[in-house]
Amino acid sequence: MKVFVAGGTGAVGRPSLPLLVAAGHEVTAVARGPAKQAQVEAAGAIPVAVDLFDAAAVAAAVTGHDAVVNLATNIPSIGRAARASGWTVNDRLRREASAHLVDAALAAGAGRFVQESITFTYPESGDRWIDAATATPEPTAVTESTLAAQAEVERFTAAGGTGVVLRFGMFYGPGSSHTATMLRMARWGLAYCGGAPGGYTSSIHVDDAATAVVAALGVPAGVYDVVDDRPLTRRQYADALATAAGRRRYVRGPGRVLRWGGAQAALLLRSQRVSNRRFREAAGWAPRWRGADEGLAALEAVSPDPGGPVAPSSGPASP
Ligand SMILES: NC(=O)c1ccc[n+]([C@@H]2O[C@H](COP(=O)([O-])OP(=O)(O)OC[C@H]3O[C@@H](n4cnc5c(N)ncnc54)[C@H](OP(=O)(O)O)[C@@H]3O)[C@@H](O)[C@H]2O)c1
Repeated sequence: MKVFVAGGTGAVGRPSLPLLVAAGHEVTAVARGPAKQAQVEAAGAIPVAVDLFDAAAVAAAVTGHDAVVNLATNIPSIGRAARASGWTVNDRLRREASAHLVDAALAAGAGRFVQESITFTYPESGDRWIDAATATPEPTAVTESTLAAQAEVERFTAAGGTGVVLRFGMFYGPGSSHTATMLRMARWGLAYCGGAPGGYTSSIHVDDAATAVVAALGVPAGVYDVVDDRPLTRRQYADALATAAGRRRYVRGPGRVLRWGGAQAALLLRSQRVSNRRFREAAGWAPRWRGADEGLAALEAVSPDPGGPVAPSSGPASP
């Protein structure tokens, strides 16, 4: 299949490209600048420089492809997330770029469209298992655009294509700047986990998110949750971060740090125990890392540079 990927150079896009190529697809990926072009080429994909906010350029780039995968986001750093202005580009990507990509996919006669989304918009659900079939998103101002992107996917499906929305849990893993920040904070004894210590956070290792992207090329149209098998409580997550950072446990309790995030971070205070059952059944997919405690523990070789990257270890054998 000829697959066009937007966001193929990001935290999930980067591990997705070589997997898509290995699965036998001919992959084109958006690359902004020479370094990203080289990154895309190293993954075995074809780089294309295109501005996602330029509808005509997107249409030209997507022509000839059988499927479009949109993983483009611009999530602000933890420091910038408290300001609504930090989310402007991300909103535009989810509203405008998604619309341009759907228009382009329809014009190209592509049969499939896969759109990145998030599970964080689900309501506070205590310890109840939830998923797209049982919970209705209650987004905040900065996450309403996820529903706009979903509406574009539904437009694609209504026009006869197969539109797939992947609601990902909280990413962690190599290449995630947020993971590097959380581990740095954990080394200082601070837990970047808001809400009640007994509330749940649903996560997904970026490498497992990447295998889900490949699997999404074969599922029926719909909205799916891509999370690991064992959502952790905030306390468990904080302890897992502390352990990965080389501390015995966190010093400051969950909840304090996220207050810096203000109203924008409010939805990260909710307890969300999200089930991956529907995607497992539809795709035959399973995460390698069943819980973030396992995946974080495998993130050895955390750079001694406080701002440095997080490198992967070989990890345990697949379950
Ligand atoms: N579900 C989640 O938990 C979740 C979701 C998204 C992000 N995050 C986290 O947030 C951190 C930062 O996120 P991020 O949004 O920068 O994600 P990212 O995964 O690092 O990058 C997103 C992708 O979108 C592309 N992109 C961004 N703006 C673009 C634009 N205007 N035009 C074309 N492409 C554009 C990027 O291209 P370039 O490489 O050229 O910048 C990149 O390929 C990441 O470390 C990630 O862990 C978490």
